[in-house]
Amino acid sequence: MDRLREITHIDNVKLSDDGRSVVIIDQTKLPNQTEYLTLGTAKDLYDAIFELKVRGAPAIGICAAFGMYVLAQTIDTEDYDAFSRKFREYKDYLNSSRPTAVNLSWALNRMERVVAGHREQGVKWIIELLGRECRQIQQEDMEMCRAISEYGLSLIQDGDGILTHCNAGPLATSRYGTALGPLFLGKERGMNFRVFADETRPLLQGARLTSYELQKAGIDVTLICDNMASLVMKNGWVQACFVGCDRIAANGDTANKIGTSGVAILANYYHIPFYVLGPSSTVDLSCKTGADIQIELRSPDEIKKKFYQKPMALEEVACYNPAFDVTDHSLISGIVTEQGIFRAPYTESLKKLIG
Ligand code: MRU
Repeated sequence: MDRLREITHIDNVKLSDDGRSVVIIDQTKLPNQTEYLTLGTAKDLYDAIFELKVRGAPAIGICAAFGMYVLAQTIDTEDYDAFSRKFREYKDYLNSSRPTAVNLSWALNRMERVVAGHREQGVKWIIELLGRECRQIQQEDMEMCRAISEYGLSLIQDGDGILTHCNAGPLATSRYGTALGPLFLGKERGMNFRVFADETRPLLQGARLTSYELQKAGIDVTLICDNMASLVMKNGWVQACFVGCDRIAANGDTANKIGTSGVAILANYYHIPFYVLGPSSTVDLSCKTGADIQIELRSPDEIKKKFYQKPMALEEVACYNPAFDVTDHSLISGIVTEQGIFRAPYTESLKKLIG
């Protein structure tokens, strides 16, 4: 059980003891090294998010919220207008680090509302409140992940095979995770699952992080290349697919790591239920459909060079490297949130969730 707890309760993002910096596990170093980084400047924070040292939609939001508290303490003025101007500048900068996961702007907006709502109380008091707000955001995420795990667990049986894509475990959130949460919770209760983890090209979050988390926790995990999912499903080894999410549009279309929509299409073909698990903070009703979700494009080097000793394609070969794709709502069997399992028609059910 301790081995399990070490993973489910991992301190992936936290404030330093003096509250003047954010301490993260550098996820790019896993699974070979567990290295902590201390982030004290806006550039440190931006780079850590952009370079995926901290990643996963909820974890990015939490890191940015802690970051705004840290940066607010460095703004050297008692004047409210000057303070809020500089605060906004930092907020916009961090917000531009990654565009797809709505949790980033959601958490930053929450922090900004604290500043906007306490003009009369003065800068010192606002900083105190910002400290409380970022801790609250993390606390809420822990509670949401736990509730999502409970609801997710109700969808599967002991002994089931589960396929997952990318990483939506404790490293991507705070405690338990979303898509992996039911598996950890089930394990805690003596249940056993057989998990297939897509390696998740090009950045290998499935290989580096998901298989690491599950293996360390003593859960039966088998790593597969992304193009093997179809065969594993055809073999009858998968009873459900569980994936995380970065932004859910009002109609239920869901952005998640590139390759997720392919998994959903395969699952649909083989009549395997496909579930999206995430906190209600990932729902963005301002996006009517998935077409309104901005998809992050990343460097071709991640495809051609990253993780290889030598480039795997000629320098001049063109590359298309979208970091996310959108799964059509028609392929999603249910959206599992901290408030329950939401079903189609999503336009109706998600409105109720947010309302
Ligand atoms: O690029 P990443 O690694 O940040 O992408 C992460 C994902 O796509 C996750 O599935 C998603 O953020 C949910 S994490 C609970």
